[in-house]
Amino acid sequence: MTEKHYLIQEDTAQKKIDLEVMKPVQGPLAVDVTKLYRDQGILTYDPGFMSTASCESSITYIDGEAGVLEYRGYPIEQLAKQADYLEVAYLLLYGELPNRSQLLEFDHIITHHTMLNENLKDFFGGFHYDAHPMAIMVGVVGSLSAFYHDSLDINNPRHREISAHRLIAKMPTIAAASYKHNISEPIVYPDNDLSYCANLLQMMFATPCEQYQPNPLAVEAINLLFILHADHEQNASTSTVRLAGSSQANPFACIAAGIASLWGPAHGGANEAVLNMLTEIGDLSNIDKYIAKAKDKKDPFRLMGFGHRVYKYYDPRANILREMCTKVLNELADSNNPMFELALKLEEIALKDEYFLQRKLYPNVDFYSGIIYRALNIPNNMFTVMFAIARTVGWVSHWLEMMSDPLQRIGRPRQIYMGSPRRDFVPLDERS
Ligand code: CMC
Repeated sequence: MTEKHYLIQEDTAQKKIDLEVMKPVQGPLAVDVTKLYRDQGILTYDPGFMSTASCESSITYIDGEAGVLEYRGYPIEQLAKQADYLEVAYLLLYGELPNRSQLLEFDHIITHHTMLNENLKDFFGGFHYDAHPMAIMVGVVGSLSAFYHDSLDINNPRHREISAHRLIAKMPTIAAASYKHNISEPIVYPDNDLSYCANLLQMMFATPCEQYQPNPLAVEAINLLFILHADHEQNASTSTVRLAGSSQANPFACIAAGIASLWGPAHGGANEAVLNMLTEIGDLSNIDKYIAKAKDKKDPFRLMGFGHRVYKYYDPRANILREMCTKVLNELADSNNPMFELALKLEEIALKDEYFLQRKLYPNVDFYSGIIYRALNIPNNMFTVMFAIARTVGWVSHWLEMMSDPLQRIGRPRQIYMGSPRRDFVPLDERS
């Protein structure tokens, strides 16, 4: 429970207002304004949630000034080095690291929920032949709610848990099927002998006539990327999931809403946008021109993969990925690919440039994730899908946390109305 103190006195409209201050386990104090409108008739205004906490949470902690990220109290660096993705998924879902038998059981459950209902496969054929895999994900994940009527009671904790397991287990299968549809190949079924990440690669790259042997370094890199992308507290997509869930919508619909929010280039779509940007830059000789464009306020161009709302030091996930990026580029990628040289040069220049230094715009996780995925031969339009698979456990953990929070109520922001004052209707013939 959060400790509360009466601390703040504010002079507004010649009234002194007492507001409660919430003291978190870690992080800045927060002023509780929930009763401000009811008691004083005053709203708070904070577009983009620059200074607003939307809930209490015990899942993930970020200190953006110090570059700290922790899942359930465990530093991301330790998890990245020592854990497996499903171990981290268990930690996020249940709050504690699993012991050996808990992990075996969880692994078994997830592995045995990976298959899709045969009828669900028909949905893929309804999409245009070159549909973006994220568009397919939004539709197909939302449609899962049409298949599990028997376990969709959101007030039943066991139903909630089964839905969580189904979502985590089926996301790689749906993602791979979306990709297969996009390249007009038959869907490949999951293989229960493979790990979560190896199975994803197998479903993406095997064909009915050719087996696929996942490369161990590729599996290691994806395991790492998935751990780093697993949760990030109240980002846009997680907040979307919470807001959708606050109306008591079913979990499949809520996660579909999260996927839609993740798709934007300011959020999870950035990894795809980084590679598109590198293609547009094209050559080392063009870098200066694009740095100048990024600095020009009249030009909408931004250096994709740079900057973060919360991290004003260095994104700790980017720090970890940089090392893996070098390893993958050295061991797996075509070292002659000019794209990689371009990325490294861009990073070097931006890290020295006054504009980026002053605004604390460092490379973020998605600057490197896109480069690694490219080196692993994952197509550009699948990058954000990979992010969505990894983030599903974060979304689901927040949804579960919200659903068992006694303070949970429908999310309903207010507004500052700036439109026309009241006026009378003018009949059509009398309008100028
Ligand atoms: N390139 C050039 N200038 C930038 C960039 C950039 N990538 N990012 C921010 N700025 C400038 C911006 O113009 C503003 O300058 P000024 O103060 O002179 O007006 C200042 O930096 C602050 O920017 P902001 O837009 O107010 O910051 P924000 O916190 O609202 O936006 C952001 C954060 C991530 C949306 C933004 O940095 C951005 O668009 N970055 C590129 C997209 C990207 O890489 N997104 C992935 C984020 S990490 C993955 C995830 O968790 O979603």
